[in-house]
Amino acid sequence: MTTPSILILAGDGIGPEVMAEVRKVIDWFGTQGHAFEVEEGLVGGAAYDAHGTPLTDETMERAQSVDAVLLGAVGGPKYDALDFSVKPERGLLRLRKEMDLFSNLRPAQCFDALADFSSLKREVVAGLDIVIVRELTSGVYFGEPRGIFKEGNERVGINTQRYTESEIARVARSAFELARRRRNKVCSMEKANVMESGILWREVVTEVHAAEYSDVELSHMYADAGAMQLCRWPKQFDVIVTDNLFGDLLSDAAAMLTGSLGMLPSASLGAPMENGRPKALYEPVHGSAPDIAGQGKANPIACILSFAMALRYSFDLGEGAARLEAAVETVLADGARTADLLGPEGGTAISTAEMGDRIVAALSA
Ligand code: IPM
Ligand code: MG
Repeated sequence: MTTPSILILAGDGIGPEVMAEVRKVIDWFGTQGHAFEVEEGLVGGAAYDAHGTPLTDETMERAQSVDAVLLGAVGGPKYDALDFSVKPERGLLRLRKEMDLFSNLRPAQCFDALADFSSLKREVVAGLDIVIVRELTSGVYFGEPRGIFKEGNERVGINTQRYTESEIARVARSAFELARRRRNKVCSMEKANVMESGILWREVVTEVHAAEYSDVELSHMYADAGAMQLCRWPKQFDVIVTDNLFGDLLSDAAAMLTGSLGMLPSASLGAPMENGRPKALYEPVHGSAPDIAGQGKANPIACILSFAMALRYSFDLGEGAARLEAAVETVLADGARTADLLGPEGGTAISTAEMGDRIVAALSA
């Protein structure tokens, strides 16, 4: 059997710091008979600084050929004035688009030790375990025409929300498949009351459901009502499937329910490769957090849990993933807190590196 390969793209801001902790976890798995071949590359502002582009063709090629990509974060104020075509975010969007990672799994799970950190009441969030499946390669993020054009004597900014039936059908299938392995419920969210693309979305999801997944419970919500329900009683959901832009918004809201953006991992999956593994990129939901970068304050848990998702979805190591998740839970239950996890009553924060060390220690325990 060949050693599975991973490309690490740590990126910008806190990306390199949190990824350094993932490296410790990867090394630990190496000591347990699960070695990975790890290579590193540049993405985002880091790639722009070195090569004048947020993702070189060579790195793109490497991403296409490895078994999984782990990404830290991209972006920062230093790059705000850059032309849109070379902004750090374009590197990430190119990876998603060219690897055709259409299904973005964003779990929002509330760790018991952190239930009091949510802005919502404990009973609303304790035990929360939902997944947002966000369409990631189409919609308004990529639709044409797009641009800022001159119309008469003023400028007009244009983006296009566009979905084909097959794009909707494939992400719907991935949500139904996921639901079958969970609590068997899917809620689809769009704005069919105002958008044609929303009407088509609802029709196609309904058709795929009737034809292939009628054993799964399906409901529909307008995305604005869905956002409201997510804050009112999130436990009513199991799997939410939605488009690229609504998924971007709803997943940030869902993240906050769990107490900290620093906790949430994600998996972006595409079609199976020749070896049967899906094309895959794993990244924390949080961004590059330039305000705390380089200070050892960042929470590495979202990035570490993203690696747990890689173990589960790319490397068929579900047991290893569960073990890693349990180690995180243990460390939190023991009171280990990075700065983002300190509640109103304060306490002492540990560093990014110490959090990583404790998780590795809990893995061995
Ligand atoms: C996310 C981020 C990205 C997005 C940015 C960094 C391009 O907000 O992954 O949620 O908008 O998709
Ligand atoms: Mg986002």
